[in-house]
Amino acid sequence: MSNGVKIKLSLLMVLIAAVFGIVACSEERVAVATVEEDVPLKVKFKIAEGPSYSQDIQPVFEQNCVSCHGEENAENGLKLDSYEHTMAGTRFGAVVIPGWPEASTLVYVLRRPASQEIAMPHQGKKLTPNRIKNIMYWIESGAPNN
Ligand code: HEC
Repeated sequence: MSNGVKIKLSLLMVLIAAVFGIVACSEERVAVATVEEDVPLKVKFKIAEGPSYSQDIQPVFEQNCVSCHGEENAENGLKLDSYEHTMAGTRFGAVVIPGWPEASTLVYVLRRPASQEIAMPHQGKKLTPNRIKNIMYWIESGAPNN
């Protein structure tokens, strides 16, 4: 073998090694991407362990809603004085759809309703953003009686 051929051969070997290297690296990148897709599941899991109805939600209703949605006075038939009554909703139907806060009337009236007339609490201050978020997380985690 001449020196020229030897050099060409070893160049070829380097090239083959480089190609294998790139293939190996890109396979590694695929593996990393799969791990990244796992992250939202962990967030969901955190939400599932989220607010407690008795500790985080009912007290907010007692303070802001029960004066108009309680035993004495149940506007639209809605009582927010217990878990069972909250889930029973108004005489028109449920206001909490477990797992789906955006479609729940209760969240809609608390957030940004089209008209002030349906904003809750009526004639009162809007709930703070974290109180509203806690209610949304509670509904998203399935609205459990916890
Ligand atoms: C001052 C009285 C008052 C307070 C306080 C109040 N509401 Fe209401 N609520 C009403 C009245 C009256 C209605 C009947 C519909 C209407 O007039 O908008 C109503 C209706 C509702 C409805 C049903 C809406 C529909 O379209 O069926 C929901 C849900 C609701 N209230 C949630 C709440 C929540 C949650 C709170 C506390 C953060 C609250 N309300 C506090 C007076 C009140």
